[in-house]
Amino acid sequence: MVCDQLRNVVTRVEADVASGPIVPLVTPQEIRSYLASHYDFARPLALEDVCADVERMLRTWQVQVTHPRYFGLFNPSVTLASVIADTLVAMYNPQLATWRTSPAANEIERHTLAWLSGKFGFPADAVASFTSGGAEANLSAVIVALTRAFPDYGEHGLRRLTASPTVYLTDESHHSFNKIAHMTGLGRRAIRIVATDGHQRMDLDDLTRRISEDRQSGLAPFMVVGTAGTTAAGVIDPLPDLVRFCRSEDLWLHVDAAWGGAAIISPSLRGRLAGIEAANSITCDAHKWFSVPMAAGMFFCRHSDAVDEAFRAETSYMPAKTVGPVRDPYTTSVQWSRRFIGLKLFLALAQQGESGYVQMIEHQARMGDVLRESLKRAGWRIVNDTPLPLVCFTRDGLVTAKFLAALHQGQIAWMSEVRLGGGAPVVRACVTSFRTTEADIEWVVREMGRLI
Ligand SMILES: Cc1ncc(COP(=O)(O)O)c(C=O)c1O
Repeated sequence: MVCDQLRNVVTRVEADVASGPIVPLVTPQEIRSYLASHYDFARPLALEDVCADVERMLRTWQVQVTHPRYFGLFNPSVTLASVIADTLVAMYNPQLATWRTSPAANEIERHTLAWLSGKFGFPADAVASFTSGGAEANLSAVIVALTRAFPDYGEHGLRRLTASPTVYLTDESHHSFNKIAHMTGLGRRAIRIVATDGHQRMDLDDLTRRISEDRQSGLAPFMVVGTAGTTAAGVIDPLPDLVRFCRSEDLWLHVDAAWGGAAIISPSLRGRLAGIEAANSITCDAHKWFSVPMAAGMFFCRHSDAVDEAFRAETSYMPAKTVGPVRDPYTTSVQWSRRFIGLKLFLALAQQGESGYVQMIEHQARMGDVLRESLKRAGWRIVNDTPLPLVCFTRDGLVTAKFLAALHQGQIAWMSEVRLGGGAPVVRACVTSFRTTEADIEWVVREMGRLI
């Protein structure tokens, strides 16, 4: 019943988005004046009218990230099943702090995460949890790694440590780690930037040198972050090398696969993530390449004891700890009250099956290849190197900001600007929609030719 009714709504919204503008042309003042004059909350309004008005606002005042010609940061088009899942969750509002309050929801999440954990090659006793997103999953990784490396950290904080802990990543790593360093008390200077090679991958020689120098100067290296699909360029760090190095140096290896992690289910792409199975922890977002609505991140960790220690909590007001082979999520994750995040991935996987998901992911990878080839034929220069569907490109004399403004103004497509390795700005286009077709790409590249 819910399913049929929502199917019609979702189909209508998809069609509206695909046939409308992609980029809003609006100022903050315009929206604020509208809200101030229409919504003073002094009297009740008809729900139907407010819903229609909010839909109109979302249709006109938003970058349409589910548009087939949105080639942006990793905000996906969303599957029908995942939208239905989020509605069901809102209606039943299960509380996932403890197992006993929501046994079905807890077990559905556990089942879904165990499936993906197995795909990553993690052992059966690894633990995983749904998070609000990749930033929270990365935060979880740093907290757990700190707890394992420095047993005093949990009770006494960093001030009890004799040497300052340091984390190693590159300029291409996600900037959530800067905030995390701040939040955990490590301090932003604890983030040590390792050089990259000519393809923006972490340079192992520089990593080795930095760690050795830092140890000599009294710092305490404890963690390396490898990225599997960097935000700017989709680059995959040399994971097998990082695994070997971290093992020999007794360092925690976290793989931030927030976007690229979904490639693990694709027979043709999973080889590119080789090494991830030996990481200590992994971040992978369902709300990126698994095409479910925000907010749905995932944290996987092979050390359940360290997770238990990092997030342990005891209070008299929570129901007594659930006994048996279960973990109460509030004692194994950052969050306390928590939404049933995992249903959207479960329902979408159940409906499409693994093969449906593989097709979706491989279609997007193929569209990335189509985009690359089409751009090359049109005289653009590709400047990144990745098997994932993210293309960074430029051409001689291009003023990127001006080009992008014209692209957006003409409602041709949404793309963004990045600088790789501190170089000049280039255009970044990522295929984030499973609805993007070859015809969309050929049309966009043709139209781009008219702007230069
Ligand atoms: C590599 C990487 N890690 C982490 C994040 C943060 O994820 P979220 O936005 O889900 O918090 C992103 C976001 O794009 C990312 O690209």
